[in-house]
Amino acid sequence: MSKGLVSKRAAWKALGRHATKARALHLRGLFANDPHRGRRMTIDFPGLYLDYSKNRVTDETLRLLGALTKECGLSKKINAMFRGDKINPTEKRAVLHVALRAPRGTSIMVDGVNVVPGVHAVLDKMADFTHRVRNGSWKGHTGRPIRNIVNFGIGGSDLGPVMAYEALRAYTERALRFRFVSNVDGSDFAEAVRDLNPAETLFIVSSKTFTTVETMTNAKTARDWLVQNMKGDESCVSKHFVAVSTNAKDVAAFGIDTDNMFGFWDWVGGRYSMESAIGLSTMLALGPNGFQSLLEGFRAMDDHFRTAPFHKNMPALMGLLSVWNVNFLGAHSVAVLPYDNYLKRFPAYLQQLTMESNGKSVTVGGVLVDYDTSPIYWGEPGTNGQHSFYQLIHQGTRLVPCDFIAFAKSLNPIGRHHDLLLANVCAQAQALAFGKTAAEVKAEKVPADLVTHKVFLGNRPSNTLIAEMMTPALLGKLVALYEHITFTQGAVWDVNSFDQWGVELGKVLAQRIAPELESESEPALSHDSSTNEIIRRLREWKKD
Ligand code: F6P
Repeated sequence: MSKGLVSKRAAWKALGRHATKARALHLRGLFANDPHRGRRMTIDFPGLYLDYSKNRVTDETLRLLGALTKECGLSKKINAMFRGDKINPTEKRAVLHVALRAPRGTSIMVDGVNVVPGVHAVLDKMADFTHRVRNGSWKGHTGRPIRNIVNFGIGGSDLGPVMAYEALRAYTERALRFRFVSNVDGSDFAEAVRDLNPAETLFIVSSKTFTTVETMTNAKTARDWLVQNMKGDESCVSKHFVAVSTNAKDVAAFGIDTDNMFGFWDWVGGRYSMESAIGLSTMLALGPNGFQSLLEGFRAMDDHFRTAPFHKNMPALMGLLSVWNVNFLGAHSVAVLPYDNYLKRFPAYLQQLTMESNGKSVTVGGVLVDYDTSPIYWGEPGTNGQHSFYQLIHQGTRLVPCDFIAFAKSLNPIGRHHDLLLANVCAQAQALAFGKTAAEVKAEKVPADLVTHKVFLGNRPSNTLIAEMMTPALLGKLVALYEHITFTQGAVWDVNSFDQWGVELGKVLAQRIAPELESESEPALSHDSSTNEIIRRLREWKKD
């Protein structure tokens, strides 16, 4: 329960006073005054290196942020999560994605039951199924082996699987084709199956609740498509559909044999579920060993988050740096800029993780906050973004802290490509931090009327995360890093990072509007005048 807003705490107020001085500092001066800053302000976690020196922070900032973690009880909150306490009070649930990667033989209790054996039982069932699909012993209705795997899911039941598939594509079984269908827009389904042979296609219906309208609509359409292609023989469904869900009753009602259901639990939030059974497509793509490496990466970051002191704790520190940038330096967003094309869906994945978690306006205790909570996460892979929105980050009026992510080795070493990619990530972080002064511009004999246009003010904060190479274990570390950054932010802002009531209203209204769009006769519309007019116009234009 909230004991008052964090903004009333001594460390928060001290940070506010400190910020008035810190805003006058420039990264040029901070680096000039401390030749070791770029070595000191780093964290060397095994296999992942963080340079946070290009943030607008001093040792005093870090000391005060450390004090804030104490006042907010961050380590107590971390322990409560790992212990299985019900830290999601509005849904009366434990929050135990960390149990999904707990080693076999360990114990985490929820309501008097050790949940770890159940986690491993599901992983074993997934591995057995994966072997059967990959070695061809799982056959479709006509006896053909599976060549195509289509995952239906949305939000956490889609973004994690598709992001992981794209990120680790180099490690996937190329004889299998993977497609991910999320949108209720029929075009998503139509384009995904248009070149697939139904006899060789397996559908995974991934939905924690098994009630989500988008997923269930796509799954029903797929069932019709399959049965139609199998000359109306309904018995084909059991060979071509499996489910991932917590809801066995509705899975059975859909016609999927619950023997072919991979379960998980209400203590796994959708956006924290990619390494649960929701990762079935990931395991099919990588194989059980690859999936195991992914879990090991998660686990390594979990151990680090739970045990490392604040100044050496990568997720805690990055979480606090984002609090500093948002609440004390006025940033509204974080750009996540992976210099790795395989990570192209990583920003989209992070959007749900961070914004569905911390896009809240009341504290855990239900009190309206008087400070900003989650920044907007967004991004694109480099170097593409450089030729698009980086202009604003360099010379616009807004402060946009950036997280750069890069790998020393390419999975596709071709010519100079990778060195050019890496040169760009180094250059961007450097340019953002140090900019280019008017004197430097003038020294280049730039015409006087262009000088102000060519000045780069610099002082734009960034983190740089580097690793040797993209691997399944590395992806596990990276995802767990951002999960725990999100946890840290939520702990400081004192919000419930694990519910998502804000998605409900739109769902309810859509249920009311759908029949109004579908009805043959003119419906009596009683919405606001704007919504009424839009519905009328859509009805008019959708007529044949
Ligand atoms: O509507 C939001 C949401 O509940 C997300 O939190 C969740 O990841 C997504 O929908 C999908 O839910 P489900 O897995 O139950 O279909």
